[in-house]
Amino acid sequence: MGKDVIVACDFATAEHTYAFLDKFTDEKPFVKIGMELFFATGPSIVREIKARGHKIFLDLKMHDIPNTVRSSAAVLAGLDVDICNLHAAGGMDMMRGAMEGLVRPDGTRPLMIAVTQLTSIDQTRMQNELLIARPLDEVVLQYAANAKAAGLDGVVCSPLEAGRVHDTCGAGFLTVTPGIRFSEADRGDQQRVTTPARARELGSDYIVVGRPITKSGDPVAAYRRCMADFVG
Ligand code: C5P
Repeated sequence: MGKDVIVACDFATAEHTYAFLDKFTDEKPFVKIGMELFFATGPSIVREIKARGHKIFLDLKMHDIPNTVRSSAAVLAGLDVDICNLHAAGGMDMMRGAMEGLVRPDGTRPLMIAVTQLTSIDQTRMQNELLIARPLDEVVLQYAANAKAAGLDGVVCSPLEAGRVHDTCGAGFLTVTPGIRFSEADRGDQQRVTTPARARELGSDYIVVGRPITKSGDPVAAYRRCMADFVG
């Protein structure tokens, strides 16, 4: 898979999601399904969106003991998702277990990426609540290196971290980057934002874009703008 725009379908119901996707008549955007929609609808939403011809990043951020994650990863692989994810904080045995479970009987598997530290965790919270005393940047890069060593395909990170992740883990290690806005003025609850064009310059492999597309008056035009600026 090459560079692509992943549309975060942060809707509460299947009906809203299908109504949104129905607007796209000429293209099939790569879709991210998160916990809210998946918990509301169950696996049927994945099967339906796959049947409509979209690729799917199922963003459920697994974090449990290795055996549970191994068997759960096998279920995800059976759902035919294209990308899934877990928390690197679950440790290397958990990540290795996930990679074992992910391989389908035919030898293929979805891509697996790791969340390093959530962007809602800053240095102070990490130190005071999680009792991790090292600098946040160092923790992110160490977790990325752990993910690579466990056989994962990449990480979720800020576009601003994409270069350092590639320097540490190699150019082929995927950086999937949210926090995308067309301008600084629209940043909403995202702390640090990057335009699609800047994310491309910084070396992101995939950008995850939610509200700039889903809340746009013309979602198809907004998606095309992201594709033009990021993919070219
Ligand atoms: O609407 P917006 O473009 O901010 O959506 C970004 C998407 O990426 C949301 O689904 C959000 O949960 C997700 N995400 C994020 N930051 C992370 C990890 C995931 O914004 N660090």
